Amino acid sequence: MLYSGIDLGTSSVKLLLCDREGGVVNSVTKDYPLSLPQEGWSEQDPAHWYDSVVSGLKELLGDRGAELRGISFGGQMHGLVMLDKDDRVLRPAILWNDSRSTEECDYLNITVGREKLTEWTGNIAFPGFTAPKLLWVRKHEPELFARCRKVMLPKDYLCYRLSGEFVTEPSDASGMLLFDVKNRRWSPEMLELCGLTEDMLPKVRESCASVGVLRRELAELLGAGEVIVAPGAGDNAAAAVGMGVAGPGKCSVSVGTSGTVFITSDSFTLDGENALHSFAHADGGYHLMGCVLSAAGCNKWWMENILGADDHAEEQAGIEKLGENGVFFLPYLMGERSPHNDPFARGVFAGLSLDTDRKAMTQAVLEGVAFALRDCVEAARKQGIELTEACLCGGGAKSPLWRRILANVLRLKLNIPACGEGPAYGAAILAMVAAGEYSSVREAAERVVKMSGSVTFEEELAARYDKRYRRFRELYISLKPWFCPSVN
Ligand code: XUL
Repeated sequence: MLYSGIDLGTSSVKLLLCDREGGVVNSVTKDYPLSLPQEGWSEQDPAHWYDSVVSGLKELLGDRGAELRGISFGGQMHGLVMLDKDDRVLRPAILWNDSRSTEECDYLNITVGREKLTEWTGNIAFPGFTAPKLLWVRKHEPELFARCRKVMLPKDYLCYRLSGEFVTEPSDASGMLLFDVKNRRWSPEMLELCGLTEDMLPKVRESCASVGVLRRELAELLGAGEVIVAPGAGDNAAAAVGMGVAGPGKCSVSVGTSGTVFITSDSFTLDGENALHSFAHADGGYHLMGCVLSAAGCNKWWMENILGADDHAEEQAGIEKLGENGVFFLPYLMGERSPHNDPFARGVFAGLSLDTDRKAMTQAVLEGVAFALRDCVEAARKQGIELTEACLCGGGAKSPLWRRILANVLRLKLNIPACGEGPAYGAAILAMVAAGEYSSVREAAERVVKMSGSVTFEEELAARYDKRYRRFRELYISLKPWFCPSVN
């Protein structure tokens, strides 16, 4: 029997086909466009997601459709998808890295108050979260808001179209600011505040629950029989499962379009300073998570938009003087979430001189992202969490140079999973549990996930990076007033 994990990313969807032992049988990637209609806005057409998934599934399965037993999802979090009474998409989805809702966040964090938000949801408002975006639509597109009958997250839209089941699960729902994370249910206070009723939101089931089957027409198109559908998880929780980060006291670091530091626990915990999000995990537990909005996204921007280069390995070849670079890069191309919650921050190169070359700037980009992730690691250490090792995934994890920089900047031993497709692999594991192959997510993760190696930090280099990290922090602090809109 085969299982498919679908990771709905920001630039593409990745579909993976696995057997019950976790052996990867096939994988397919389909790209779709990202629209940036105004500075700080980020949107996508849900029809592109659905079309890419259907054509991707056909390609993925070939003539093995009859062997498909289960399907599940990992998806970009926080996106706002709105449907009308006839299930038509009302407007392009507003994505996780969209920062238009700054005024709504001020209203939520200041007027409603951080304490109340934290009590109701476990979190404060960030522009990427779903509730502030809903308030933005209610204010700026009121006729459209009035026609809205269903609100859902990107991967839940896929689940709805593929199975007809209007469901979500706690890990992704946590990032909506409409969800009482601790109690794993919708927050009545937040629903009222946003003008929603509970029937406009999906039913909450656990990530590995069997919630329905693939629609008959689709199953026929794929040559499949009855295919079990499980809700899956937000991409970071799915990636954690796909790296064996299930059960308490574990950590994963992801360097994808965004970058995250993900720390698991059995019980609900709060970061008293709200630098880290307090979310539910796909294994029935919880996690704290720091999110930097542009991670491998910075390197993609630098390579494609600025250098016009596509060979990452060639560009990074010859970068050897680690810990000595005079150039610094602030990776805040879309503002920053953790720990600054500053939608107005922007990217900066600093410390350029006449002998600065292309390699030093490429190195600065890789280092700047690592320093931003260190901010998240430090926020966790400040909460008394001891971190010594983590699993690493995401496109950035493929570069041996970037892995070494990350291990040394973060002062962590980084374990590299044999299957680097974290979210899609985790989603496939959730589908296996839904189909009864394993009794729990933790058991499945333990039995299925394998590591291929690790990178350890070197004390002397880590000490050099400690010093540079302090300078990186000072750079943001000194520029913070300059980023402020009243100055521009
Ligand atoms: C997490 C976050 C990002 C997206 C990227 O809070 O916003 O990691 O999930 O897809």
